[in-house]
Amino acid sequence: MTKQYTTDSKPFLDTGLALVSNLPYRVTDMTEATNAFGRKEIDLALHEMPGLSSLRVEFGAAQPLAGAKIMGSLHMTIQTAVLIETLTYLGAEVRWVSCNIFSTQDHAATAVAVGPNGTVDAPAGVPVFAWKGETLAEYWWCTLLAVLWPEMNLILDDGGDATMLLHLGAELEEAGETADPADADSDEHRVVLQLLKMVREQMGDNVFRPLVAQVRGVSEETTTGVHRLVERLAAGTLRFPAINVNDSVTKSKFDNMYGCRHSLVDAIMRATDVMLSGKRALVLGFGDVGKGSVQSLRAQQAKVSITEIDPICALQACMQGIDVVRMDDVVSKFDVFVTATGNFNIITAAHMKRMKHNAIVCNIGHFDNEIDMAGLEAMVEAGELEKIEIKPQVHEWRFKNTTQGPNGGGHSIIILAEGRLVNLGCATGHPSFVMSASFTNQTLAQMELHANAESYGISVTTLSKKLDEKVARLHLDKFDVDLTVLSGEQASYIGVDQMGPFKPEAYRY
Ligand code: NAD
Ligand code: ADE
Repeated sequence: MTKQYTTDSKPFLDTGLALVSNLPYRVTDMTEATNAFGRKEIDLALHEMPGLSSLRVEFGAAQPLAGAKIMGSLHMTIQTAVLIETLTYLGAEVRWVSCNIFSTQDHAATAVAVGPNGTVDAPAGVPVFAWKGETLAEYWWCTLLAVLWPEMNLILDDGGDATMLLHLGAELEEAGETADPADADSDEHRVVLQLLKMVREQMGDNVFRPLVAQVRGVSEETTTGVHRLVERLAAGTLRFPAINVNDSVTKSKFDNMYGCRHSLVDAIMRATDVMLSGKRALVLGFGDVGKGSVQSLRAQQAKVSITEIDPICALQACMQGIDVVRMDDVVSKFDVFVTATGNFNIITAAHMKRMKHNAIVCNIGHFDNEIDMAGLEAMVEAGELEKIEIKPQVHEWRFKNTTQGPNGGGHSIIILAEGRLVNLGCATGHPSFVMSASFTNQTLAQMELHANAESYGISVTTLSKKLDEKVARLHLDKFDVDLTVLSGEQASYIGVDQMGPFKPEAYRY
């Protein structure tokens, strides 16, 4: 039987939004023009997402996701709209929030809420709780509303926030404890603890346990979210199976690299209009995202160097003629800084104090702690720094006690997207084609979990290489590729099946 939550609860912090409500959706702009714009872009994107359109053709009739109730926490963009509508096309019921306060494209959110067959007056789409420029309190309110779905049985996560909220909530209930915001180690953590505390006060101590018990599995989109899952698995605290979408080759070696190659400079240019040619740019971290970011900046003829901790990645950089340097040694010499590590405290407030006047600082990794934004806020409170908004997601931070600014006075730096994912905060993220590969993997992962979740036990698993090759194959037609077909003799000579997989598991591409 469907459980109903009460709707007469108090608002959450300063959001003005009832903590618990039966709101069908919440987006900012429910107008015909915005819906039409969103729908047009969704139609255009679908044509650029051959993997998703092929899955619709292959599986539409069979409805493999019938009975799946998927809660998604992933950037609410046009590309995500195509993913959502593919999941529903295959039979799923879906609810959605963004996984970042700045990444929502409002016309995408509106069009998804309205749906292909609805109108703005009679929306018939998917419940979406997302808008561009959420506060942290609003963000966590949205996430709570999306997970408070009694029938939810699958999660599609990007960065692990939905998974984390459910686990933390269930753990507190089991321990008989109420969250204490005084225990928080960051502003965002404080908001999460406030949320859990208010849920306990207003809804009791058996909210998250039944929800977690019903979740059959999660598919995780990104490197940072996979780290969180693997940590939980090692600690023995993971409560449902997880499919690691990130480490499908057709995800991390395409989205993380070629996606960032497109969307990094797109974001810097939309935000600043600064010419990158000839400028010195430092990319911190030379993994998949760092490699794409370097290509993006080098294509503009910027002079790019990197930092790394891993000797293999450092050697790869050397083979590409890229200097490997230490931040502390070079911080005063560079014009543009991009963090891409998935680690924290990569650019500290002390570093920013030493930068050139008007240096551009941004992050393309998942969370906002690669750049020490909290350290900067503390300097503002101490009266040493002023934050000036140039436009949303672009801020000048003016130091008062430095001497490398104009006329020997204080210098400024320009921080993009408040230290959060720059490509989704200041631009529109990766383009449709590369997201098609990622989201074809996501759809296959959801189909696999819906069909077989219990057979995985508590584990973090990647999809098979056979499916990885399928995802690639679905994208080849776009390029008029004529793939060579192995003869039977050739296949047995190199020890593979004629139809693949063509590489052993350990192959690295
Ligand atoms: P990765 O593990 O391939 O690369 C991270 C690199 O950073 C590694 O090579 C590691 O050695 C290096 N590193 C770690 N600590 C460092 C330090 N202190 N100094 C210098 N280098 C350091 O991971 P990835 O797939 O490249 O992902 C990086 C981040 O980007 C993650 O947070 C991921 O979730 C996120 N991501 C963002 C997007 C986007 O669209 N913005 C897309 C995919 C992934
Ligand atoms: N991650 C990077 N780019 C994205 C996009 N366009 N949509 C959703 N997630 C993304």
